[in-house]
Amino acid sequence: MKEKIEALLADISALACKTDKEIEEARVRLLGKKGEVTRLFEEFRTVAPELKKEYGQKLNQLKNAAMAKIESLKNASEENAEPAAAGFDLTKPGEPFQLGSRHPVSIVREEIISIFRKFGYNVAEGPEIEDDWHVFEALNFPPEHPARDMQDTFFITSGHDPILLRTHTSSVQVRAMETLPLPIRIVCPGRVFRNEAISARAHCIFHQVEGLYIDENVTFADLKQAILLFAREMFGPDAKIRMRPSYFPFTEPSAEVDVSCNICHGKGCNICKGTGWLEILGCGMVDPNVLEASGIDSSKYSGFAFGMGVERIAMLKWQVKDLRNYFENDMRFLKEFESAI
Ligand code: DAH
Repeated sequence: MKEKIEALLADISALACKTDKEIEEARVRLLGKKGEVTRLFEEFRTVAPELKKEYGQKLNQLKNAAMAKIESLKNASEENAEPAAAGFDLTKPGEPFQLGSRHPVSIVREEIISIFRKFGYNVAEGPEIEDDWHVFEALNFPPEHPARDMQDTFFITSGHDPILLRTHTSSVQVRAMETLPLPIRIVCPGRVFRNEAISARAHCIFHQVEGLYIDENVTFADLKQAILLFAREMFGPDAKIRMRPSYFPFTEPSAEVDVSCNICHGKGCNICKGTGWLEILGCGMVDPNVLEASGIDSSKYSGFAFGMGVERIAMLKWQVKDLRNYFENDMRFLKEFESAI
């Protein structure tokens, strides 16, 4: 009997009921006509006379504890219900809260990736803090190339083999060529860093998507086709592209690609500065030196690469004139893209 009393006391102190119904059930279970406490009182009749005093006290304690607990649970539940009683209308609709929306740079980055995924490209990523090899050396930058200069690059350590913030995502194509089995077909999205004065057209942090395709017999025609299909997906089925010869250390031949202006459709407007064309990316056939630097046999394999600025594509898509908007987190600007997802 002693154990039963102890056990019930522990039960009672741990009792947690929320609703009035649960509290009433607990009351009946403990103190009702056939309740556990009531039953112990009946059992008490059979207790040996010399124990009656001790057990009688304990039983009374138990009963008091049970009644006190039920009472306090009832009070607590009344307190919770108070606001309704005090005139709050619980059926009123709640205060609407502000939902976040996707950042325009994220929206465009995801769109670029999903277009290339459809063409069979995988996504590869690499570190933002890089070494000279992956950002410059393996990409065929001559030692005196201006991009290596302090003017452009944020160096973390200087000296013979510096650590730096990558200035482009082309570093990821080097890492991919060093590690992935051939053929390779990847896009590499990521943040890049350049030591530039911040203005409407330049920022020291921005985003790029790099593309790389390496296989046997890859030609410039394949590159042109990939870029054309991309432009049509991104800017609409009527988009046209034109390629202008250009120079990058890591591609030969190299080209810059313009897309037909999606605002004036070639007639000439202030976005395309009257030319009817907008520059969207740089590209070219991967230079054999670059393939060889990563251990790929350039007599057997060839490939193309391209790189584009995500903010730039977003600016063209939505006619945003000032790049700084993307980094200031002004809710009035960001909310404009809510429906673009
Ligand atoms: N890495 C270049 C830049 O940051 C962009 C680029 C141009 C990437 C041509 C390429 C390419 O892969 O083929 O300006």
